[in-house]
Amino acid sequence: MNDLSLYLRTLEERLDPTALFERVVGGPCDPWQRQLLTTSSPFAMCLASRRIGKSQTTGVLAAQTVAAPGRTVLILSPTLSQSQLLFKKVLQAWHAMALPIQKTRLTQQVMELDNGSAVVCVPAGQDGESARGWGVKDGGILIYEEGAFIPDAVYDATLPIREDGGLIRLITTPGRKGGFAHSLWTENDEVEKITARSTELPRMAEKVTFDRRYMPPLQFAVEHELRWVGGGVPFFAPETIENAFTDTPELKLGDFLHA
Ligand SMILES: Nc1ncnc2c1ncn2[C@@H]1O[C@H](COP(=O)(O)OP(=O)(O)OP(=O)(O)O)[C@@H](O)[C@H]1O
Ligand SMILES: [Mg+2]
Repeated sequence: MNDLSLYLRTLEERLDPTALFERVVGGPCDPWQRQLLTTSSPFAMCLASRRIGKSQTTGVLAAQTVAAPGRTVLILSPTLSQSQLLFKKVLQAWHAMALPIQKTRLTQQVMELDNGSAVVCVPAGQDGESARGWGVKDGGILIYEEGAFIPDAVYDATLPIREDGGLIRLITTPGRKGGFAHSLWTENDEVEKITARSTELPRMAEKVTFDRRYMPPLQFAVEHELRWVGGGVPFFAPETIENAFTDTPELKLGDFLHA
């Protein structure tokens, strides 16, 4: 295939990340994924259930973004293993595009391309030190993956990485109330908010039914129904406390005095 026919074949995917998503995943994206992949909002936050496709969507978004020249996508995850897993997803989507753009550098965290674009996938650590030195501007994206589990200090230290025209995407399951992610979700009207709840998705019905049956209710509420938790996880789940005070079935003592 020559460069022109390759360019034409990949034109749709260069323009439309949902087309790339469909080819990488083998099925259509959900409405929340479409919104996250296509929004042009400077700051979008997605609150999403476990196993719903957060990392997959991030991988496709990153790969599709760096197909255009001169863009940096910097992805911060809470741990090293999460950032490595995510980087694999980015590479998988990048290779699926099969563009005639060469890598000029490839490490376990960085892919630099000869169109001047780069993807960087690093763990947040306690201070965001590993992200230092990078800048994100003009259509590049700074992505916080599982942002509710990234320390507030990292958010404060890394937000300045975004320069003019750079975009922020924060994708997470719910975490602790009071952290920066919770404040953005509940208090900041400027942030575009995208909700991805597994209990509303037919493709996740089997998993939701299984987890509802076998998971502690509080964990199910957090991981599927998107409930934020207090500073400390309560010792007893609310349902356990409620059941302890229920009056059904009615307690019958009988006439034990005259038995
Ligand atoms: N729209 C979709 N249709 C079908 N499968 C999908 C879709 N989106 C994601 N998946 C698949 O769902 C699985 C979980 O995806 P992914 O690892 O991205 O989820 P996650 O939300 O990051 O999970 P975790 O909570 O463990 O971090 C993957 O196999 C992925 O390919
Ligand atoms: Mg994930």
